[in-house]
Amino acid sequence: MCGIIGYIGEKQAYPIVINGLKKLEYRGYDSYGICVLDNEKVFLKKRVGQILEEGESEFNGCVSIGHDRWASTGGVCEKNAHPHEYNGFYVVHNGIIENYKELKEDLIKKGHIFNSDTDTEVIAHLISEEFNGNLEDAARKALKKIIGSYGIAVVSPKDKDKIVIAKMSSPIIIGICKDGHIVASDPSAVIDYTKQIITLDDGEMAVLRKDSYMILKEKKIETIDWESDSISKGDYAHYMLKEIMEESKVIESATMGRLLDNNVKLGGLESSKERLEEANKIFLIGCGTGYYAAKTGEYLMEEIGGIDAEAHMGSEIRYRNPRLDRNEAAIFVSQSGETADNLAALKKFKDAGVLTLGVTNAIGSTQTRETEGGVYTRCGPEIAVASTKAFIGQITVLTMISIFLGRQRNLSEKKAEEVIKELRDIPFKAELILNNREEINNIVQKYLRFKDFWFIGRKFNYPIAMEGALKLKEISYIHAEGTPGGELKHGPLALIDENCPTVALCPRDSVYDKMLSNIEEVKARNGKVIAIASEGDNKIKEIVDDVIYIPKTIEALTPILTAIPLHLFAYYFALALKRDIDKPRNLAKSVTVE
Ligand code: AGP
Repeated sequence: MCGIIGYIGEKQAYPIVINGLKKLEYRGYDSYGICVLDNEKVFLKKRVGQILEEGESEFNGCVSIGHDRWASTGGVCEKNAHPHEYNGFYVVHNGIIENYKELKEDLIKKGHIFNSDTDTEVIAHLISEEFNGNLEDAARKALKKIIGSYGIAVVSPKDKDKIVIAKMSSPIIIGICKDGHIVASDPSAVIDYTKQIITLDDGEMAVLRKDSYMILKEKKIETIDWESDSISKGDYAHYMLKEIMEESKVIESATMGRLLDNNVKLGGLESSKERLEEANKIFLIGCGTGYYAAKTGEYLMEEIGGIDAEAHMGSEIRYRNPRLDRNEAAIFVSQSGETADNLAALKKFKDAGVLTLGVTNAIGSTQTRETEGGVYTRCGPEIAVASTKAFIGQITVLTMISIFLGRQRNLSEKKAEEVIKELRDIPFKAELILNNREEINNIVQKYLRFKDFWFIGRKFNYPIAMEGALKLKEISYIHAEGTPGGELKHGPLALIDENCPTVALCPRDSVYDKMLSNIEEVKARNGKVIAIASEGDNKIKEIVDDVIYIPKTIEALTPILTAIPLHLFAYYFALALKRDIDKPRNLAKSVTVE
């Protein structure tokens, strides 16, 4: 690593920068250099070895940058010491420019003459190429061509009275002094002058003047992957039905380009993969349907990811005091990325140094900007207040993240292959359920007289039971509750009678027999039962009142399929009751208030 330092203010710059170089010498002492601007004149000194003061009394001026070098690209010699200059532009740099060779070749073809063997000198040449009177603008354009890491400071007599700085991966701070500003690689070079500092973030630039500073954030241009017709109802009566009918496509788009043979490729996790590998616990945080997706993720992370996981409601965890540390990661699950309770919880986790990631649908939303990485669900716009396709996208993405984490731990290639192979088939299986929607509507018509419903599920399908209850209650205003099947006998069974039907999620999985027992408990109290069951399960048909079949799949993927009939069930119920399906009373699509 190297040390960079600079000063601009009312005082003579040389003593401050030389002092800073001495403080930063621990970062690199192969060579050092300093330049001082005095109006049009520039004093430049570069030496190999440790810092020696040689009575540079003539180094007058109030703008200066300096550099302690630990040689990375280019040997230890005076010409490779920073600052590097070209055509009146002086640069000091901490970092690695990975594509400097290609850039240098292009510049040489344009007639540029290079004086050093370093990667850094390329920056001075690029700035010179882009310069048209404004130094920060030229630097911004130059840095767009660079691949790699940098913490740089740039000065020029061609746009004097400023230092332009920029950061990507290499640390840079600004010291706010009474008489000016100091830029440095770390606080050790500013502490003699100020304790007020600003830390630049990746992608940020700043322009320092003697009496002001301006931080420039290069906003990433993101492409919304929506088509204009995607925010129209098309031929559907309601957005909600349109969005449910898109659920098979959502699974396809959420997995598109992300499924490998025995792993997944999630670009948004790349920069966090080391920390995820070291993580010993995953928090999953959401609200409403987002929480139920997070809760499903808890089972997925445990079962496939091989890591401890805890799901929390944003509205609760934000007021609690869990013990948090850097060995944990927190995944925030939100369609809008604007839910106030989630964002408040996000700040708590970030302040505690926890790695924060998002599973988000809305591109460019606050959650995507405030988290350190994440995975988009790619559902397209979701307009109906009741979240349906976004929920399917969320649990699909959480399934992939659990594979990612599992492959960093003890998930075998063979097991990962099995899950991924099945995940590839899920869109087709989801489509089969959607094609069966009229049968679901016919079942709904038999239950319209009831005012109370119970939803039960176990393990992966416990959160889906809660999701089904939420969908029904929020758009039909019918009372519904979701609970683990095993909890019925601990109280809720008292509610069950001929007036309170139960929807039982009972796919062929590891808790199938337990769910059958729960169904028997309900039937013994004259409760009607609608089962969501696996195709070919004729046994359950003999026990319950109605069956909605879903295609067989592996246990961990059943939530994606069991949720779809529950979304349709809620939709047709609300339709029959003539509710305002897309805009149910008292609610809003995105709860940006607390
Ligand atoms: C779900 O159908 C509801 N509209 C509501 O629970 C919603 O999921 C919740 O407000 C969270 O919204 P978000 O996903 O945009 O954060």
